[in-house]
Amino acid sequence: MTGTTATAVDTPVVQAQGLGFRYAQALGEAVFSDVSLSVGQREIVCLLGGSGCGKSTLLRVLARLEAPADAAHTTGELHFMGAPHLRPHPRAALVFQQPALLPWLNAERNVGFGLDFAHQSAITRSALRQRVDEALAAVGLQGQGRLFPAQLSGGMAQRVALARALVREPVLLLADEPFSALDAITRAEMQQLLVDLVHRWQTAALLVTHDIDEALLVGDRIVLMGARPGRIVREWRVDIARPRRADSPEAGALRLQILGALHAARQADPTPSP
Ligand SMILES: Nc1ncnc2c1ncn2[C@@H]1O[C@H](COP(=O)(O)OP(=O)(O)O)[C@@H](O)[C@H]1O
Ligand SMILES: [Mg+2]
Repeated sequence: MTGTTATAVDTPVVQAQGLGFRYAQALGEAVFSDVSLSVGQREIVCLLGGSGCGKSTLLRVLARLEAPADAAHTTGELHFMGAPHLRPHPRAALVFQQPALLPWLNAERNVGFGLDFAHQSAITRSALRQRVDEALAAVGLQGQGRLFPAQLSGGMAQRVALARALVREPVLLLADEPFSALDAITRAEMQQLLVDLVHRWQTAALLVTHDIDEALLVGDRIVLMGARPGRIVREWRVDIARPRRADSPEAGALRLQILGALHAARQADPTPSP
């Protein structure tokens, strides 16, 4: 067969070209610069890097949460679904390390928060309610929407946070160390859930992590970020069949390469973080 097969990478959901950012207070020092990065449909890209190298800032800039389209602080180009990405978009959803649920709302109301039920027609309201139920079912919490945050385990709370992102039918999921506060078994379950959801919902996902094994288990690509200024120093495609095991020889070989690159990046950093 001739020609090229359309792959996820051919049509990026989000694409950054030469992206740079500085905080207004930071006296001109860039947090990151010249970052070029894309994530395609049904693709999971893991952003790996030491503490303080700018991963969270990059994620917020990709979501346009930092100084939206403020040319004084952001340089380079950012596209979302093929169009210039200038302000936060409801279909680019974020998940953070802490689930940040509203304690006075039950799980289903937390998931539906912000969907604006009050100003919708009865038909739209019932469709939105169905979306909330579907999102809860997708994260394995069907029938548990009446529970309040205080009644949820850490893993369940993070599932609710994931459902709150899914209910927006995201084409892009931006997740900032979403599983790092969970115990090892729950973390492994959530990593598998993320892979399943991305494949089933055809979402593009950018997962920030400082855990090499997490990146090896879930990533289609791993992007390594160095510090001061934050920049992309290496990238690997993870061609390991799923389901993956962190103790497989392929994962072991790639882990060594990544560890070597992490050490090299740290050595190149003139002021290592404590
Ligand atoms: N709101 C802010 N204002 C000014 N500087 C910030 C702010 N948030 C983070 N920084 C700085 O930006 C750099 C990168 O931080 P961050 O993006 O949180 O890194 P990471 O997520 O990789 O640990 C750090 O030096 C941090 O102190
Ligand atoms: Mg961070």
